[in-house]
Amino acid sequence: MSGGTRLIKPRIRRILAEELPPELVEMLPKHWVMIGDVLILPIRRELEEYKHRVAEVYAEVLGAKAVLRKGRISGEFRETNYELLYGNDTVTVHVENGVKYKLDVARVMFSPANVKERVRMARVARPGELVVDMFAGVGHLSLPMAVHGGARVIAIEKSPYTFRFLIENIELNGVVDRMTAYNIDNRDFPGRDLADRVLMGYVVRTHEFIGKALDIARNGAVVHYHNTVPERLRPMEPFETFRRVAGENGVEVEKLNELVIKRYAPGVWHVVVDVRIFKT
Ligand SMILES: C[S@@+](CC[C@H](N)C(=O)[O-])C[C@H]1O[C@@H](n2cnc3c(N)ncnc32)[C@H](O)[C@@H]1O
Repeated sequence: MSGGTRLIKPRIRRILAEELPPELVEMLPKHWVMIGDVLILPIRRELEEYKHRVAEVYAEVLGAKAVLRKGRISGEFRETNYELLYGNDTVTVHVENGVKYKLDVARVMFSPANVKERVRMARVARPGELVVDMFAGVGHLSLPMAVHGGARVIAIEKSPYTFRFLIENIELNGVVDRMTAYNIDNRDFPGRDLADRVLMGYVVRTHEFIGKALDIARNGAVVHYHNTVPERLRPMEPFETFRRVAGENGVEVEKLNELVIKRYAPGVWHVVVDVRIFKT
């Protein structure tokens, strides 16, 4: 994933300075995200009239086949609401940390800010351990664990559209022998007491799934519990809710680690807590 610098690229500026009023040239995007060969551009409202031309010039200079205007990610499937400004094919293969991710950037979220967590998961995975990824997406977190860590993975993804890419990515990365995928709601996954590690890479409503994660985990397993937390509830949350729900289920917990992944919204943080669980 490559990001932009703080300066508008000289070539972009040169081309657009001849077509846009000077004050709008100063509003051209100074940051961007490239996923594979699809560019995500934050374009200000003031540039509305010129947005297609701006996208075209950025695409040409930066070598993108399609350009999307950055928007919000929302809903159960965490779909993007990006506006297509240039090109028509938004399916790409993004390579990060030696892992190939095929995805449709126009519909499937792939957050640049989560890169550290994807790299961390590659490191924590142990050969042969069984990981259950409850919110697999296209394999965002669990592909690195299978590819680099040699872990066995059960990846669960509810969205049929995203699932198609998950299946392709398992093949693309040569981990068919150790990764299995289910296109179901993780609450319908029948496995119990089997995972050495459970991934809960979801936000906003992750607490609703703690009980299920506890069912899936075996005694002594580690759960990587993500959630979004308002500033005023930190540092107690999100661990406190996990501890309470575990207690209600007769499970003891030990907090191993906590990391802030990113600012999710003003005053709200996306946090991950690593929790070891003890079933009696
Ligand atoms: C925000 S993406 C995160 C992907 C990855 N875990 C990460 O952290 O980068 C969450 C994914 O969980 C899926 N999802 C949401 N609810 C689910 C459920 N109940 N069962 C299985 N998958 C679900 C969504 O469709 C989406 O693809």
